[in-house]
Amino acid sequence: MSWFETRRINKNVRNLVSLDPQCQTIIERIENSYGLQRKQLGLRNLSNYFFIDMLEQAFEKADLKLSSEITVLDVGTGKWDYASFLLDFLVCWKRARIVHLEGVEFHRKKNRRSVEQKAKDCELNIYWDDIMNLSKKERYDIVFVNHMLSGPSHCKDWGVPYHPASQFFSHLQSLGKQNSLIIITAYYWAGESAIINCISEQSKLANFDYKPSVGKTLESFLYGYIGFHNNSICVAKAPYLDLQSSIQYDESKEKWDRILGGLSFVK
Ligand SMILES: C[S@@+](CC[C@H](N)C(=O)[O-])C[C@H]1O[C@@H](n2cnc3c(N)ncnc32)[C@H](O)[C@@H]1O
Repeated sequence: MSWFETRRINKNVRNLVSLDPQCQTIIERIENSYGLQRKQLGLRNLSNYFFIDMLEQAFEKADLKLSSEITVLDVGTGKWDYASFLLDFLVCWKRARIVHLEGVEFHRKKNRRSVEQKAKDCELNIYWDDIMNLSKKERYDIVFVNHMLSGPSHCKDWGVPYHPASQFFSHLQSLGKQNSLIIITAYYWAGESAIINCISEQSKLANFDYKPSVGKTLESFLYGYIGFHNNSICVAKAPYLDLQSSIQYDESKEKWDRILGGLSFVK
């Protein structure tokens, strides 16, 4: 896409956003609660509004109350784009007085500069490693997994190791304290959301699809680059892994199948 085309589309997107009542309501509510100015966040960060709105819905549906001091792990921190909003959310909304936020990210070279810059006003412990090498047993109150679950082909493209869902989730479970929470968001569009099926139904406190209408419009407008992707989100309490089932990824169909006692179940 040429620079001129991008500019024209961005202008249209701006018009769309100002016309959409759902988007306006979300923006106003969040700005009032946070005391943030819209121009401070800007359209580029529209996805941040949706992200906070999604977290708020998840916490309400799961009826979560946090202790006053918590330790949180952000898995696959990337460039710290959403982690700072997670921190704001936990402190402002949920009134956790002290939040120790830690992150783990495989690609140091790609992300270090952005993470250090964005996290300069808060204390952040970041481990530059594969999550499977993190051995902080029973340390976390919340394990947060935002947009990092993927199948072998995506992992290969991103240059990250692929871990089968059962191994990945058992490892995350070992990092959490007793009754710790896991919050997972997964892309809705490419079958990734089906991986949430490996969380047992009994331990799910909330599980829903988040599809903001403007996000959807922006997604088709900009081929998914700027808008907030439609997501599936799940909040579960440990032990959350359903050890009776196994998850299999079918690369040709780009989806996960859950095999339960011989019955195949696809979301
Ligand atoms: C799509 S990005 C999401 C980044 C961030 N959570 C966000 O929502 O903006 C997925 C991130 O997970 C990281 N990642 C993937 N597999 C990982 C692993 N096994 N250990 C640590 N980080 C991993 C990738 O390097 C990438 O930065």
